[in-house]
Amino acid sequence: MSIKVNEQEKVFHLQTPDSSYIFRVYGKSRLLHLYYGKKINDHAHLEDSLRWFGAGGASIDAEFAHLGSKSVSFDILPQEYGFFGSPDLRKPAFHAQYADGSRITCPVYEGYRITPSKPRLEGLPSVYTENDSECDTLEIFMKDEVTGLRLTYLYSVFNDRDVITRTVIAHNEGKQNIDIKAIMSLMIDFKDDDFDLIHLEGNWARERHVERVPLSRMGANVYSRRGLSAHDHSPFLALARKNADEEHGDVYGFSFVYSGNFEAGVESDRYNQARVYMGINSFDFNWRLEPGQSFTAPEAVAVFSSKGLGGMSRTFHKLYKSRLCRGKFRDKVERPVLINNWEGTRFAFTEEKILDMAKIAKRVGVELFVLDDGWFGKRDEADSSLGDWYPHKEKLPDGVAGLAKKINDLGLDFGLWFEPEMVSPDSDLYRAHPDWALHVEGRGMSQGRNQYVLDLTRKEVQDYIVKFMTENLESAPIVYVKWDYNRHLTEVGSASVPPERQAEVSHRYMLGLYSVLERLRARFPDILFEGCSGGGGRFDAGMLYYFDQYWTSDMTDVVERQFIQEGTSMVMPAITMGSHVSICPNVHIKRVSPLRARGYCAMCGQFGYELDITKCSEEELDEIAEQSVFYKSIREIIHSGEMYRVRSPKGRDGAAWEYISEDGKSVAFAVFNILAYPSNYPRRLRMTALDPDARYRLRGTDEVYDGAMLMYSGLAIQPMDDFDGQMFIFDKE
Ligand code: DGJ
Repeated sequence: MSIKVNEQEKVFHLQTPDSSYIFRVYGKSRLLHLYYGKKINDHAHLEDSLRWFGAGGASIDAEFAHLGSKSVSFDILPQEYGFFGSPDLRKPAFHAQYADGSRITCPVYEGYRITPSKPRLEGLPSVYTENDSECDTLEIFMKDEVTGLRLTYLYSVFNDRDVITRTVIAHNEGKQNIDIKAIMSLMIDFKDDDFDLIHLEGNWARERHVERVPLSRMGANVYSRRGLSAHDHSPFLALARKNADEEHGDVYGFSFVYSGNFEAGVESDRYNQARVYMGINSFDFNWRLEPGQSFTAPEAVAVFSSKGLGGMSRTFHKLYKSRLCRGKFRDKVERPVLINNWEGTRFAFTEEKILDMAKIAKRVGVELFVLDDGWFGKRDEADSSLGDWYPHKEKLPDGVAGLAKKINDLGLDFGLWFEPEMVSPDSDLYRAHPDWALHVEGRGMSQGRNQYVLDLTRKEVQDYIVKFMTENLESAPIVYVKWDYNRHLTEVGSASVPPERQAEVSHRYMLGLYSVLERLRARFPDILFEGCSGGGGRFDAGMLYYFDQYWTSDMTDVVERQFIQEGTSMVMPAITMGSHVSICPNVHIKRVSPLRARGYCAMCGQFGYELDITKCSEEELDEIAEQSVFYKSIREIIHSGEMYRVRSPKGRDGAAWEYISEDGKSVAFAVFNILAYPSNYPRRLRMTALDPDARYRLRGTDEVYDGAMLMYSGLAIQPMDDFDGQMFIFDKE
């Protein structure tokens, strides 16, 4: 049992293999947070260091007033969940307005329930379990007697992983409407703020760069107000103790299983106590709960690691690849090597061109051909036809089915690009249903990439997407879908939502999208779905519930990719990271790098090519053929086991990533260089997590290495040229 309850003292102790999370009921009915961190045995004396009263006496809770004015101050005590309107004046986790205009929420503890396993969240993506022994779920019942608001806090505590998932369900048991203005899924009060904060910042073509900054009294937050989780910030942050590094020290990681507007941050109070929060962004959010209605906040996942950032990432990787990803491809580490025509042709392709590409691709070992944007309507530029999902007659004279058959006849599988959530103003769909795009009556509509966003709050729009996707996917042997999404939400409004609920539209959009994806996944369980959003925008845990993998970035330059893949690997496993080799000079950044390095870097994700292969020289084709063979021989190592970030890209040195297969018998060690050192000599790179008593043979050679030597002295890496890379494969003897 991972949840222990001391009934007498009303203390809840949630335990994972290496962590403890403790809170208690204090006074008559408040919840006081006592501890989150490395596992401890007992809660005794955790309250010794609490500051019960602080300067600024306005914050004494009425319930404790009888103890004397200097006894208890809500504003400095660690709360389990903070409310606006209480004497806790820090950032509230919950803020609502009631029908009488009041904004005070003051719920009291009513009881708890523990159940084995973990409930799925209605209409929302969430981590799941496969049997009851994997985790227990604690529900804490809170009730505001004045308004009738009931809140249930859910904690699912895993027995064999250092994971606690959290969410909150609000239910209106009163007689009047309740407007929820903020509802965080997770809030944790720490007793100090001696942390570094780690988050992932980015932009198009430079997604998810790791930034580590000391936490200060100014606090910090990451967020999206763009309607999707976006390129700018990921719905993730970590707090690391100052001495924590890649493999050592305490780290708390928080990941949000949601793809829309989010906020996550840390506030450091006047006593230097950190409050962490994560939830739907309260910016432009209001959710009306009529009597009898409920609202479920999306899930937040908390991971504790006493083995540094690497330990945190491996916990996320294991959890997400086995208990968030679903379906047939979840356990399929051997996914196809693909070629995508986008960078090779953009919109300017013919069927003949595609078949020429496919023929050569087949020759060099590619397994799947993906036809990208431009195959439908009259789309020859990014200025029309989104919504008109029928074949472009000039480009595909025999339709999608005809092309797919010809590709199949060449011995390749066939995949297709869609951008289902969008509509072009120049499209039959928009002309027929102008009201189906998100808009506000009487206001202009801004375009992004010449397109509007469909109003997925509307059931008929959801049905339309499911219908045309179904028709297309049934019309041809399509085994793979790339689901793209290329603009942000503006003029957020929906004619189908009443005026008082307009601030629900962004979240209702996400619920509509999740519903569409759920229906399509159920209908097409054998299709491999890859998500995409202008490269790697919206690559979040919410999307991984529906998409087997995700296009990590439009940037395929080997140097920039190291930063992107390193940051992405903070939370996402390699098996989910679409990663392709493109041409040189790189189309976006003009860098020239060796094909082998581009290959090795792409092999650290779901491998493929993104180029006009008809333009490759014979030498390049030979090398590509070797790469395909090599990748197929190692993909199980990369995707089945654990990843260790041995060296982060920095200065002249590139990344070094180590992958140990699930059975521990094979190791792939990818090492990259950024800029060559003059007068260089072989440098040793210490590998990690090997068996010190085992011997490892370097694949393809007779060289055998002592495991301890590889870890404690290191593998000698010969000097490399600018932007080069190597991959070493070891097999345990
Ligand atoms: C953006 C994606 O990131 C690209 O890979 C490509 O699919 C284009 N959209 C097509 O418009």
